[in-house]
Amino acid sequence: MEIFIDSASITEIEKWLKMGVLDGVTTNPSIMLKDNVYDMEAGAREIAALVNPHSVSVEVTTNDLSEMVTQAQKFASWAPNITIKIPQTNQDGVPCYGVIRQLENEGIKVNATIAMSLGQVVLAAKVGATYISIFSGRVSDEGGNAFEVIKNSAEWLKRWKYKSKIIVGSIRSVADILQAVMAGAHIITVPPQLLTRMVDHKYTRDTVRQFVADAQIALEKMAETRAK
Ligand code: E4P
Repeated sequence: MEIFIDSASITEIEKWLKMGVLDGVTTNPSIMLKDNVYDMEAGAREIAALVNPHSVSVEVTTNDLSEMVTQAQKFASWAPNITIKIPQTNQDGVPCYGVIRQLENEGIKVNATIAMSLGQVVLAAKVGATYISIFSGRVSDEGGNAFEVIKNSAEWLKRWKYKSKIIVGSIRSVADILQAVMAGAHIITVPPQLLTRMVDHKYTRDTVRQFVADAQIALEKMAETRAK
């Protein structure tokens, strides 16, 4: 299972990359805005160079299907490791699967994003999406069962030997991360603040503190014994 970071912050990406726990990056227009990346091309190029050869997902910013294709071709030319996020449908509910199929046929990797259901996952897989992003938190917001959607999707892809990998995003808590892990997600994409929460545990800190203190006492006793 792979771990991506759901962020456009160079500081956070670099920090977690150096630790060796990152396999890729996902962004979207809202994340870029939150992380003060207003020049999308410069931001995407910088992230892609930093994490190369790992994948960086960059999302199209239009509601028009033919404009999505043009944008995707342009964004993909910025770096070889840029993956293009195409939504399942546009904001009017028009399916974007034709766009996904065309881009994959042209050799451009697509992350079929904003999936909320097994039905959408089935269609995105059929048109050859490299990644399919299930938005766990948003599925739960609507009263849906994110665990079931992720589990059924992962099992269905495996049963029919589709190449698409499930990325679970829209993670709101460490419990969401563990739910995705247990449901069989191929990849989870985690906001930096939740990676920090995933690591930290009060009892780990207390135990390390105890061991360091005891080691110090042992050193002092050894020094006393040698002095005698
Ligand atoms: C995933 O690729 C998305 O960028 C992200 O997880 C969206 O989640 P949200 O529900 O926090 O917007």
